Amino acid sequence: MSKVSTVYVCASCGAEYSSWQGKCSGCGEWNSVKEFKQGKSSSPVRGNLAWVESVEVQKIDEVKIAPNSERLKIGSEIDRVLGGGLMSSSVTLLAGEPGIGKSTILMQAAYKLSKLGKVQYISGEESASQIADRAKRLGAISGNIELAVTSDVEEILKIISSSDARSIIIDSVQTLYLPSLPSAPGSITQVRESVATLVKAIKAKETPLILVSHVNKEGNLAGPKTLEHMVDTVLYLEGEKFSDLRMLRGVKNRFGPTDEVGVFEMTGGGLAAVSNPSELFLKEKSNMPGSVISCVMEGTRPFLVEIQALANKTQYGYPKRRAIGLAEERLDMILAVLERRAKINTAEFDIYCSLAGGISTKDPAVDLGIALAVVSAIYNKAISDKAVFLGEIGLTGDIRTVRLLKKREKEVARLGLSLELLKNIKDLKSLF
Ligand code: TYD
Ligand code: MG
Repeated sequence: MSKVSTVYVCASCGAEYSSWQGKCSGCGEWNSVKEFKQGKSSSPVRGNLAWVESVEVQKIDEVKIAPNSERLKIGSEIDRVLGGGLMSSSVTLLAGEPGIGKSTILMQAAYKLSKLGKVQYISGEESASQIADRAKRLGAISGNIELAVTSDVEEILKIISSSDARSIIIDSVQTLYLPSLPSAPGSITQVRESVATLVKAIKAKETPLILVSHVNKEGNLAGPKTLEHMVDTVLYLEGEKFSDLRMLRGVKNRFGPTDEVGVFEMTGGGLAAVSNPSELFLKEKSNMPGSVISCVMEGTRPFLVEIQALANKTQYGYPKRRAIGLAEERLDMILAVLERRAKINTAEFDIYCSLAGGISTKDPAVDLGIALAVVSAIYNKAISDKAVFLGEIGLTGDIRTVRLLKKREKEVARLGLSLELLKNIKDLKSLF
């Protein structure tokens, strides 16, 4: 019988402690540290170095480097996020909330991969007929996709070692378990050990492996954060449940940039790549007061977005401020600058501000757009829907030029709109 030890792991960042903590000193989250039983007989969690087969010492200029041409193309928007395609010998973690479309996007990717060779699709989540049914709806049926329904890592290892597949997909890590470990499937020990075992097996084969991981806001146990260090690439599929927009974001990438995003729309036939996001975001732009166009950079791409603001007289003394798709602190700061530097009375209004279409941003270039939307809402006067407003607002009221202005200018011109830049927040009143 193996000895069982207790560890305390932060469910949001994966930091480990020997005793319980009320607040995780790693990420600052309260009540996120949970107790886990861990089998001592199990080997320690192996990081990604586990795949290094020999301890042979080599000169750096003599090491064989995998060429970029080994990247497998699995769909233009995913390839963009991966930095040009899936590296032939890599482990990728695809994370996202349940129901966001992870299995859908992977079945579509599997179909692309099936054109290059055999794809092993292993699922512990759904039955073979459910998977095949989805594949059929997606038009992703191929004799080159082999399904296996299991969560047992030992079984999976057998499949991997005997398979001549060129790529392997496992959905999802939360269902995986090693029968030799005492902890329950889904527990942090099981998930981490299972993933470490698979990573080791796959690195020996030089086959790309894609793993699905669920993100669960409340009980983020054994979630992607605790696995990030073990894999080469971590992608998050994000989106609001009420919107069809889905963004694929790279948060870790050993083979490319991490700031690229892929934009998709969930359709009846699966996730469709959106090649012109600006047009999608402005499709339903209203001409009402409070609506302003601005431009955000997502990775290396500029997207035009509609900012909406609503201002209502405060009823209960303390004005409400709500922001969707933007940081609330940013909105507060902009309102403070408007009040102080532009002498616009914002204090007696409840102010709501959002980015239309379910997009979110931290790009400060939308500051001027936010300020203008708010003032337009307060004055109840509409702003031209042919102009795009850009600028980062400083506390002095100065408006600074934004990063990558040339790229944004090009996008603005492509859509037949004009770019508006102001020097100081004081000039804002002149627009009304
Ligand atoms: P799914 O890929 O199963 O999500 P996950 O694996 O992340 O849990 O997708 C679930 C949702 O996607 C489901 O609510 C239905 C929707 N969907 C479509 O709208 N169109 C489609 O073609 C497919 C396959 C799913
Ligand atoms: Mg799924």
